[in-house]
Amino acid sequence: MLGQIKEIKENILADIKKSTNLEEIEERRIKYLSRKGEIPKLFSKMKEIEPSQRKELGLLLNSLKEEALSLINSMRASLETTGSGTEIDLSLPPRKIDLGREHPWQRTRNELASIFKRMGFSIATGPEVETEYYIFDALNMPSWHPARRVSDSLYVDEKRLLRTETSSVQIRTMEKKKPPLRIISPGRVYRNEKENATHMAMFSQCEGLYVDKGVSFAGLKGTLLAFFRTLYGKDTKVRFRPHYFPFTEPSAEADVTCFSCNGKKSDCPICKGTGWIEIGGCGMVNPVVLEGVGIDSEVYTGYAFGLGIERMAMLKYGISDIRMIYENDLRFLEQF
Ligand code: FA5
Repeated sequence: MLGQIKEIKENILADIKKSTNLEEIEERRIKYLSRKGEIPKLFSKMKEIEPSQRKELGLLLNSLKEEALSLINSMRASLETTGSGTEIDLSLPPRKIDLGREHPWQRTRNELASIFKRMGFSIATGPEVETEYYIFDALNMPSWHPARRVSDSLYVDEKRLLRTETSSVQIRTMEKKKPPLRIISPGRVYRNEKENATHMAMFSQCEGLYVDKGVSFAGLKGTLLAFFRTLYGKDTKVRFRPHYFPFTEPSAEADVTCFSCNGKKSDCPICKGTGWIEIGGCGMVNPVVLEGVGIDSEVYTGYAFGLGIERMAMLKYGISDIRMIYENDLRFLEQF
């Protein structure tokens, strides 16, 4: 009889352990421990055995009752704290973990920096709140230049403004280091500008500057062509249009073929039917600027360029409206 009870005890405890949720725990509690449950029924067997064995059977049944109760209580507590109650459907597939990805702006910025680094350029930085000296005076901007007006630029106080171009970093770099120097400077710029599909009031540029003996316009064209072909593919066409910047002479604007219509749509909203997208300005550093920072313009020459990073991202990824880059709409971002 005692051996039989020991076997029954093992079976009951093993059966309780099979419960996977709170409902099953409760079912087993009722089955084994309620007033008419299986364990109280075993106590009635006391009458059937020899009086000498009753004490041992009593101890065995009490330990069974206590162990079953404490097992049920601890399993219930653990299911309640882990929340693994009846609401869990173990057959459900696991949830997808979205790891996120690099923003198209960041990707473009990193890619352009890595291309220029391979060409020997290092990265320089400058402040976003600049003085008029670094943004206008040192860059040979005449006092009448429209960029100086509050209608075009965002002033912080009388003498300081949010930089309108990264060209201020040219001056700060030439003040600190003597040629040869070859830097790029990607960063944010701000203009009091009406926004549309290709213009923003806050956007970013990548400035480039190379000053050494014998630096030429041919070198500038070759560098930008090699850069654009690495970024967009070997068939990319670049055109240089004569332009005016006070800090470069001669100056040009660099355009790349329109990704949207390839020059085939007269009503294309991106290139306005010209087939070209303006990416940046460039030119030979004006000798006046070199002299202003103490570099002998009879010995050294330099070229500089300033490329729009958003425009480059638009062209790279076929983005038809520059504003999408800053809207953080997941439907847009998840495409990258
Ligand atoms: C300049 O800012 C000159 N500092 C560039 C330069 C540097 C010339 C060094 C010579 C030597 P520009 O204003 O054209 O030039 O702007 C350069 C590029 O910035 C544009 O070609 C365009 O790609 C981008 N850009 C200009 N305005 C905006 C805008 N509102 N929104 C987005 N991109 C813009």
